[in-house]
Amino acid sequence: MKQTTDVITVLGAGYVGLTTAAILANSGYRVFAVEPNFQRLEAIKKGRSFFYEQGLDALIGAGLKAGTLIPTDSYEASIPSSSFVFSCVGTPDNPDGSSNLTYVFSAAESAAALLQPKAIYIQKSTVPVGTGSKIERLFADKKLPNAYVSNPEFLREGTALADSLFFDRIVVGGQDKAALERVVSLYKQVETCREELARLAGLERVERAGAYITTNLNSAELIKVTSNAFLALKISFANSIAKLADETEADINEVMDAVGADWRIGRAFLNAGRGYGGGCFPKDVSGLISSASDYGVDLSIMTAAAEVNDSMPGYIAHKAQRKLGGLAGKRFAVLGLSFKAGTSDARRSAGVRLANILSHSKASVHVYDPEANEEARSDLRKDIVLHDSAEAAYEQADAVFVATAWPQLVALDLAKLKAAMNGTLLVDCENSFTIADVTAAGLQYMGIGRKTT
Ligand code: UGA
Repeated sequence: MKQTTDVITVLGAGYVGLTTAAILANSGYRVFAVEPNFQRLEAIKKGRSFFYEQGLDALIGAGLKAGTLIPTDSYEASIPSSSFVFSCVGTPDNPDGSSNLTYVFSAAESAAALLQPKAIYIQKSTVPVGTGSKIERLFADKKLPNAYVSNPEFLREGTALADSLFFDRIVVGGQDKAALERVVSLYKQVETCREELARLAGLERVERAGAYITTNLNSAELIKVTSNAFLALKISFANSIAKLADETEADINEVMDAVGADWRIGRAFLNAGRGYGGGCFPKDVSGLISSASDYGVDLSIMTAAAEVNDSMPGYIAHKAQRKLGGLAGKRFAVLGLSFKAGTSDARRSAGVRLANILSHSKASVHVYDPEANEEARSDLRKDIVLHDSAEAAYEQADAVFVATAWPQLVALDLAKLKAAMNGTLLVDCENSFTIADVTAAGLQYMGIGRKTT
């Protein structure tokens, strides 16, 4: 690995920041990972991320051991020596759905006082179009010469390292062409070590396009939210058609396999189910609607996508209610609380919403997730019982809802499940089971947009 003299600061050690810092620290750079949260910082210092992400702890450990990854909570200790400062701070949403940019602006404001003149300030946090121009003005007002670059992040939780190392595209946007090239050079350096990093993290190589795309500042910002919004749109579209398939005995998986076989459409993100969740799609969709309306543009197409998404957990509960002749007094297991498999993140999780709806309907609800029990706990209604195993959760259940298709849940021993249950209904909220396997075990199958047996 080539050792470079560049020092990098990454502000915010969340999903994006910590992944970025761990990769750069193992690609020849000295990297400060700045995290104000004491517990998260202490975990990183011990070689652990505070969330579950495959392979990440191995890279954190290697960076700490080599002394190239330096966790700190201090801007003063990190920014003055850095030639690149990545802003990866959180952008939660406000109650009205708009993006809350408090952390983005306070990070820029605090960093501004400490930046070396040639340091490049790089925005990785997802921000509404027009935000970068405001930060450029903030720098200009302080007479700072620093270049500002938008470099949106496209990694997915659960596959964060693979997505970052073997990327579809790196987008860099800004006015200063030399600064854009310098940011691209960081990623080109990572490319030279990525096979080694993948090995260290225990990951397979993935074939991806690996394009570098240079744009103006506003385009880069809009590319990020548009990508997420379009994927959310695809999911809500698939869920709308799934509701039609439910009424017509078509099978949504068969439909989308054939629809997605058209190269102009593509199969990805057309999986119907309990809807999207997590820290990105829900807030990015509402943030885009809100920022468009600030410019007088009505994005009703995205409002519709959000409404369809919100309807899905209730739609599933209603389907089960019709099948079972009521929910009150029944005992249910909800397996899978993370917003998708492969992560401990339970933010805006459809599984959690489904469990709460069932519990609100006066059912007794027992839940389990392989990684997300702790993160889900505070969002669950008080009377919901968390279990340490799927087996304990589905004991005596009248129906089992597999809300998140963790491989180990889809591979459950169905005969054992049937024997432990009180009823026979398996609700496959991500359409991941083979219907024939479920019925062969003596269970009744219910998917979303698939035949109910
Ligand atoms: C998403 C984007 O995919 C990333 O490219 C982006 O960088 C990231 O947001 C971000 O903005 O930081 P992520 O939220 O980690 O990544 O998760 P996804 O894999 O995109 O899944 C989002 C949700 O959609 C999950 O709840 C998943 O179960 C659901 N989904 C996905 C479906 O319901 N159907 C599908 O066909 C695909």
